[in-house]
Amino acid sequence: MKIMALMRTSIFLVGAASLAFSGALSAKEGDTEIDRADPSAGKAVYQKNCAACHGADGKGALPGTSDFATSDRLFGQGWEVVFRHVSGEHPSPDSPPMPMPPRGGKADLTDQDLWNVLAYIRQAFRKGK
Ligand code: HEC
Repeated sequence: MKIMALMRTSIFLVGAASLAFSGALSAKEGDTEIDRADPSAGKAVYQKNCAACHGADGKGALPGTSDFATSDRLFGQGWEVVFRHVSGEHPSPDSPPMPMPPRGGKADLTDQDLWNVLAYIRQAFRKGK
């Protein structure tokens, strides 16, 4: 009798553990700040505040801006780092003589605006990367 109860308990524990495990997996994929952001709202922010320097096509309009599609210098470090750079929290390590102003010079852009615009950059220029 006792052994049956013990078995039931361990079956329950295995079930709970695998539930917790699948929860951890789904939190990893598709549940980061950029995945929750809105690329279509970001497109409007981009055209208004970023395109003058980065080009409507994301290929760079000013000297010192890189082509978003191929620039892996910052993007290779992950979107959290790109966000901190763009928000002005830390400057880019090898900025050109005229570095990017924090938030593209628009202090009124919210963190959510910036995540939306990064989601747009990922969708339109980085092609999902
Ligand atoms: C006044 C011109 C200017 C504006 C406006 C501007 N940027 Fe930039 N941006 C730059 C320059 C110059 C760099 C490259 C130097 C650096 O990394 O600091 C850069 C770099 C970047 C990078 C890093 C790309 C890479 O890998 O090198 C991202 C991402 C970015 N900008 C996003 C934005 C977004 C989003 C906006 C609009 C909210 C914006 N920028 C507005 C000039 C600008």
